[in-house]
Amino acid sequence: MERINLLVLSDDLDLRIKVKNLVSDELFAISGYSGFSAEGKTKIVNKFPEVVLCAVNGEVPDSVFVFVQDLLAAIRGTIVILVNDNISVELVNKAAQYGIRKVLPIDGIGIDEFSQNIETVFRLEQQRALDTNEGKKVRCKALGFFGGKGGTGKTTLAIGVAAQLAKAGKRVMLLDLDLQFGDVSMALDIDTKNSIVDLVQDRGGITIENINGFAVEHATGMSVLCAPKSSEFAEFVEAGHVEKIIDIMRPYYEYIIIDLPASFNDTTITACENCEEIFLVYNNEMLSLRNAKVVYSILDQLHQSDKIRFIINKFEKGLVRTEDFEEMFQRKMFAVVPADYSAALASINKGAAVTVSHPKSALSKGISEIADKIIEIHTGIVPIEEKTKKKGLFKSKK
Ligand SMILES: Nc1ncnc2c1ncn2[C@@H]1O[C@H](COP(=O)(O)OP(=O)(O)OP(=O)(O)O)[C@@H](O)[C@H]1O
Ligand SMILES: [Mg+2]
Repeated sequence: MERINLLVLSDDLDLRIKVKNLVSDELFAISGYSGFSAEGKTKIVNKFPEVVLCAVNGEVPDSVFVFVQDLLAAIRGTIVILVNDNISVELVNKAAQYGIRKVLPIDGIGIDEFSQNIETVFRLEQQRALDTNEGKKVRCKALGFFGGKGGTGKTTLAIGVAAQLAKAGKRVMLLDLDLQFGDVSMALDIDTKNSIVDLVQDRGGITIENINGFAVEHATGMSVLCAPKSSEFAEFVEAGHVEKIIDIMRPYYEYIIIDLPASFNDTTITACENCEEIFLVYNNEMLSLRNAKVVYSILDQLHQSDKIRFIINKFEKGLVRTEDFEEMFQRKMFAVVPADYSAALASINKGAAVTVSHPKSALSKGISEIADKIIEIHTGIVPIEEKTKKKGLFKSKK
């Protein structure tokens, strides 16, 4: 069974160690430690733990309860458990008022009892979230960027959307599954020896610790797992690996953005099957329209067509109309992103996501609209900036 991702929160270093020693390695993966500070809060929010163990000895100050309240407002779906050496009815009641799910003693309790108590609270919460469909909403979404035609902008949009989601405070993994010719590392100027091939070949297996080890923490705040530098290594990554990697990443990320190649193969199909949504990226020209039809029909045969969202990228007036795409597929386009060659080229030269290097460009605005829409659909929350944004020229009709 997958281990539960847990973070220990305490200002007292000895107490952190004491708590760590009460947590079973088999049931839990400790993703970090932090204190009751602003940096601590940022760290916790970025790590998106499933359980936060908040340890305090003696009387629990009000500031701790306020910290927990703030934390729970910042990350939905995380469970906070208080660990204390002086439990009273008043403390348990107060803890419950602030959204703390359980109060556990630090002394006189063994590793099994301590760990099982946390696990029970976690499983009950998980079940409740499943029953209300909340877990599905809050938890991870894997989003693929695909299309059967080369050069339509899959990578550009995947990188831009991932960077925008990270900027919005989401925990994001960008996974380059264009195994032969993946160029995410080049586009983001990432100089790493490690890639997905190192992960699947590691003797330790595909674990979250190894994924973190082989992925890169990028300046945008997202993690990036790169494709191999050389195409001959692509064959080492099998469909089973892809499924497992996505599965293991899920509890740790809100969004897994997957850049895919312009072709169907076992790994691409498995990635599509494991995505919640597949963004098909095309340009508004005849060959794109034809190719989109073929790819749609293949994905339909694979029972994946419900997940398809169409994006027209590099939109230029005078070519195939958006309405023609919509008529052909009997669906609204998810987004239409304008052609903006100067920003696209300049961002490549800079080795940065276009939303970072040229945030005011038409291309970045188009990408931001996609990211905002993704957040809005998944959380029901319209990003704050949206209110002040002028209506985009190319806003989709959905
Ligand atoms: N909206 C846009 N306007 C102008 N140029 C763009 C736009 N989007 C992407 N490009 C440029 O188009 C080229 C191809 O983009 P990209 O590499 O993202 O496509 P791709 O679909 O991932 O290609 P491949 O199939 O080879 O993986 C790049 O030079 C990129 O900068
Ligand atoms: Mg690409």
